[in-house]
Amino acid sequence: MSDMTEWWRTAVVYQVYIRSFADGNGDGIGDIAGLRSRLPYLRDLGVDAIWINPWYPSPQIDAGYDVADYRAIDPAYGTIAEAERLILEAHDAGIRVILDIVPNHTSSQHAWFKAALAGDAAARDRYLFRPGRGTGGELPPNDWESIFGGPAWTRTTDAAGEPGDWYLHLFAPAQPDLNWANHEVVAEFEDVLRFWFDKGADGFRIDVAHGLAKHPDLPDAGLRGSRDDRVGHPGWDQDGVHEIYRGWRKVAEEYDDRVFVAEAWVDSNERLARYLRPDELHTAFQFDFLQAPFVASVMRATIDGARSAAAAVGAPPTWVLSNHDVVRHVTRYARAQPEHAVSSIWEQARWHEGAPDLELGLRRARAAALVTLGLPGTTYVYQGEELGLPEVEDLPAEVRQDPAIAQSGGEQIGRDGCRVPLPWSGQAPPYGFSPDGASAEPWLPQPADWAAYTADSEAADDDSTLSLYRRAIALRSKWLLEVDFTWIDSPEGTLAFARGDIQVWLNTSGAPVPLLGELLLGSDPTAEPGTLPTDAAAWVVV
Ligand code: NOJ
Ligand code: CA
Repeated sequence: MSDMTEWWRTAVVYQVYIRSFADGNGDGIGDIAGLRSRLPYLRDLGVDAIWINPWYPSPQIDAGYDVADYRAIDPAYGTIAEAERLILEAHDAGIRVILDIVPNHTSSQHAWFKAALAGDAAARDRYLFRPGRGTGGELPPNDWESIFGGPAWTRTTDAAGEPGDWYLHLFAPAQPDLNWANHEVVAEFEDVLRFWFDKGADGFRIDVAHGLAKHPDLPDAGLRGSRDDRVGHPGWDQDGVHEIYRGWRKVAEEYDDRVFVAEAWVDSNERLARYLRPDELHTAFQFDFLQAPFVASVMRATIDGARSAAAAVGAPPTWVLSNHDVVRHVTRYARAQPEHAVSSIWEQARWHEGAPDLELGLRRARAAALVTLGLPGTTYVYQGEELGLPEVEDLPAEVRQDPAIAQSGGEQIGRDGCRVPLPWSGQAPPYGFSPDGASAEPWLPQPADWAAYTADSEAADDDSTLSLYRRAIALRSKWLLEVDFTWIDSPEGTLAFARGDIQVWLNTSGAPVPLLGELLLGSDPTAEPGTLPTDAAAWVVV
């Protein structure tokens, strides 16, 4: 590995959704063996690090975000020994490994919660149990809503078989929230961090980083819903959370070069920057591009907002176009674009009426990739975006597994459509996701028309999205890492910025614009020289 310090300030990090990345043993579920076998692919792509979604033992009610044991590997994914080997092999390939830690809640199958339900007082205090309201305690303790829909409380049955206290779960009932005011909880997670740092993990993505601390009185939130308006909500982004991360930072600093990235859906980049103060977390996803339409003026404002908030605390901006919780951006861009940011991912369903124009969506997705990979800071790539995969919108209801669908009474479409197993090779499912002769089909069905998206076929095509990503990442690490950023005046409906001698241009105007300079890389291989077509981006040397 390079000994460049603070590697995370400029890294390209590839998100491995392990269940859907590569299946080594043929049971239809991605696993560590599959991931190890595909490390050469990631090395050739040129990424600096991978972030692996939760791989711990879990009942998989929420795809592993319901952790039953933080110090082990789910048998469907492999063993601790394989995890250790993976980390070593990744390091040998020059790839760092970021794990996912889920500290806001455990699984209801975690030993602590089972002990709590069995009446152990010390275990109960590690969660948020409260008596109900109403004469018989039949009403939830407060009015908070679960992110997945419905009340954030579930009532338990006491030892005598009578209805008892309620417990808080900001997500599914199978994900009870921890009580971070309890020092045993604090100590346990610091120990879990050390457990994986000792095994060579280079960092952690922190799930629901803005949720851990709650207002001590658990008061009603009033009209504020949990999903769209968290300003002042007593369950989210409370000041107490920062003390927790100061402790975590100290743990990371017992080691060399370790890093945190927060998943914190807070109200503004200014609120987010509070997590990035020098004694707290190193980075935090800036989700603005997940919510920004493909409109140059909105994208420019997105870039400005993210850069200035991060700069104010000395942190790098952190760009994300897609992840396992949102509709893939090829599909987000495949319909008419609103002129403003869509305030929350939960509103995206409204953005999805009518048939998608996937060819247009892909053109735009390729262009957006050249913008985010051209920006200063850290860029995350969600597995499959380098293949230009669209959302699988027509998954039948019976194969969908996201708990949010049932919990919201069908109001949420769920996130399965961006989690379909990757196509690697061949003409038909499982497209090399599972080995030949596999005993089971992929855990979510792959579309019949994905042959053109396989990694093999794209690797053989110079104009493919995979080739574009490879070139962009290679050029970026050669030329773009250390150079300054400056906006360039550009026509209406476009944006342009300079990074040293290289300029990055994006055109969303609906008509071609002239493009000066020598073309380094363009998202549209059919573009005429000297021209940037609409829905396209280019890197030029001037
Ligand atoms: C955010 C994760 O990305 C998502 O997949 C999960 O459902 C929630 N946190 C709850 O852990
Ligand atoms: Ca498997």
